[in-house]
Amino acid sequence: MGVVVAALLACEVPPRPPECTFTATTGLPDPLVSRDGACLTSPAQWPRRREELLDLFAGTIYGRAPGRPERLDFEVRARDGAAMGGAATLKRVDLVSRHQGRVHTFELLLFTPNARRPRGVFLLLSTRPDRHTDPTRVERSEYWPAEDVIARGYGIAALQTDRLAPDDRATFTRGVIELFEGPVPEAQRRRDAWKTIAAWSWGARRAMDYLETDPDVDPARVAVVGHSRGGKAALWAGAQDERFALTVSNQSGCAGAALSRRPVGETVELVNAVFPHWFADAFRRYGGREDELPVDQHELFALIAPRAVAVGSAAEDEWSDPEGEFQGLAYASPVFSLWGHAAIDPAAWPRVDEPRFTFPRGYQLRPGAHGLTGLDWQRYLDVADQLWP
Ligand code: GCU
Repeated sequence: MGVVVAALLACEVPPRPPECTFTATTGLPDPLVSRDGACLTSPAQWPRRREELLDLFAGTIYGRAPGRPERLDFEVRARDGAAMGGAATLKRVDLVSRHQGRVHTFELLLFTPNARRPRGVFLLLSTRPDRHTDPTRVERSEYWPAEDVIARGYGIAALQTDRLAPDDRATFTRGVIELFEGPVPEAQRRRDAWKTIAAWSWGARRAMDYLETDPDVDPARVAVVGHSRGGKAALWAGAQDERFALTVSNQSGCAGAALSRRPVGETVELVNAVFPHWFADAFRRYGGREDELPVDQHELFALIAPRAVAVGSAAEDEWSDPEGEFQGLAYASPVFSLWGHAAIDPAAWPRVDEPRFTFPRGYQLRPGAHGLTGLDWQRYLDVADQLWP
């Protein structure tokens, strides 16, 4: 009898120590309380909790993605040491994956400055048509302002997300998902199977595999950047892959930077209804039941800690819930505090045009509507200047 009671007691969740009051005060899941109820207080305890959180995000939101394929080759298809009138070197690299007899290829574009070793490299997950990342520079776009980035001493890279997974509910598996799974009918895929957002993040990680090998790149100074749906993927890449020293989310909104529990702008129900090919099917059950989600987006930022992250919102972009994006960043403070980093007050939403950097987290609210602009880029470069002086 005594043994049974002892066993029952051992199964009980231990009472939380008084410092873990996060959920009581915020109504959000506590990033520092692990599944067994323990309240973490030191960075040494974090890796285990980090694995739990990664598993929860993969299992309920982004889906479970594979790692490297059986074979990954990098083929530098073109190199121009006198690009941009001599200011930069351009490399066009094919990343060729081979897996179970199948082959998949996507291209990485990389400009590095000739005047100096790059201060860092920004990798954009481009969800826009190819002309926005024109390697010939005949077409220019502030979505990927390569000249401006080079002028500030940084390298800039891009991949086209549609080569990894088409942004289309009927054909999204025709890319890296089929590389791993073959042509499996959708009905046979698991509820936690990966879809486009995770496939785009997977591509960012493979691009990092290449960047680590490029002699013109310092792999300790690579930023992954995405706008909107690309921002959701950039955050998930930065959360999973500790090689990204800086993660940049530009107006990533629902299931990106913005808290899901806030009923503002796009909701879990809407994003899954309109874009059923973005997230794991498991995510659908939380539409209208956000309180039941085992995680919220502040914990995505927690997964990036203690590395750097910059969030940009646009004042007129209500669909992305700018204040909810700021709160996502701010409510990760308890985890950043494990390393002694200053907290960000979730109630102190910065005003328009007053970018803020609270090492290692940046936030800016710029005037205007949804979009990735030259001004956004300048502000992310400002963050990088502070990180990598
Ligand atoms: C839609 C979608 C958003 C997404 C945006 C974009 O508005 O609802 O979730 O962020 O497209 O990618 O521009």
